[in-house]
Amino acid sequence: MTRMVPGPALSMLKEKYDVVVNKRNVQPTRKELLRNVAGKDAILCMLSDRIDREVIDAAGPNLKIISSYSTGYEHIDVEEATKRGIYVTYIADILAEATADLTFALILACARNVAAGDRMVRQRKWKVGWAPDLLLGQDIYGATLGIIGLGRIGTAVARRASGFKMNLLYYNRNRNEKAEEELGARYAGLDELLASSDFVSIHTSMNEASHHLINKDRLQKMKKTAFLINTARGKVVKEDDLAAALRRGLIAGAGLDVFESEPLVASSPLLKMNNVTLLPHIGSATHQTRSKMGEVAAQSILQVLDGKSPDPHFVVNRQVLRTAPSSV
Ligand code: DGY
Repeated sequence: MTRMVPGPALSMLKEKYDVVVNKRNVQPTRKELLRNVAGKDAILCMLSDRIDREVIDAAGPNLKIISSYSTGYEHIDVEEATKRGIYVTYIADILAEATADLTFALILACARNVAAGDRMVRQRKWKVGWAPDLLLGQDIYGATLGIIGLGRIGTAVARRASGFKMNLLYYNRNRNEKAEEELGARYAGLDELLASSDFVSIHTSMNEASHHLINKDRLQKMKKTAFLINTARGKVVKEDDLAAALRRGLIAGAGLDVFESEPLVASSPLLKMNNVTLLPHIGSATHQTRSKMGEVAAQSILQVLDGKSPDPHFVVNRQVLRTAPSSV
């Protein structure tokens, strides 16, 4: 277990098995990771641990499951694990509602200058008392929200947006007719979505097609009054292009919970900009959700080590379900 996680995960595992756990509150170094996986039957990892062929080799032939305490699994060599009949499991949609809440927190913070207002008060720069033009923001009610990636998180965001009577556009690999019917979302091409939205919120998974999906050209297509919100993965946005667009006033602002490199590097120009709200990748960070994520990640391990199949809902490489001895 590469980190201690909130909730019952560790005690669930310890009840039946020996657990080697990294108790330091930092990510294990590569060396520590390679050393500590040796001979293990299961790895419970975080999205910050790169679980590639070298790690799988270092674990050796006992390894039966890599259970990730995350919904993204781009840090795992799924192909290699599948070839070797090793389950890769994730926490699927467990964090969808919490992440949608934080997305909305960023939409509200950007539109209404929440972080800037807080800074103003604390830094004793609020000199005028109430003023008709102090920190004017944008209406959210009735504005247009463009959602890139209408999966579980995107849909949970859309549901919240309906409460604000927002117009909903979405761009997705496939059309989601249920969301169109239930939420009044309209399918749009990416260019149309960018050009028409007051808020563009990213909820796509990280893959080759989504890498730097939002770059200079795409930012140029957005309204000057629009905000970009990213609670998905930092690498979906070309950060240098975003910083340039913010500096040049091509868009009004951004709310970011994820970055190309985490933690955000000290030299990042974003740190000096007032039209961005920055958070330290806390989309799923509620007591309830993080605890449930651990429970689900531990449960998958227990099922596999008990010789059963893990719940398919949480399995990334379902091919293994068909071939593993426990499924026959
Ligand atoms: C995930 O699980 O992929 C999130 O980004 C971390 O909470």
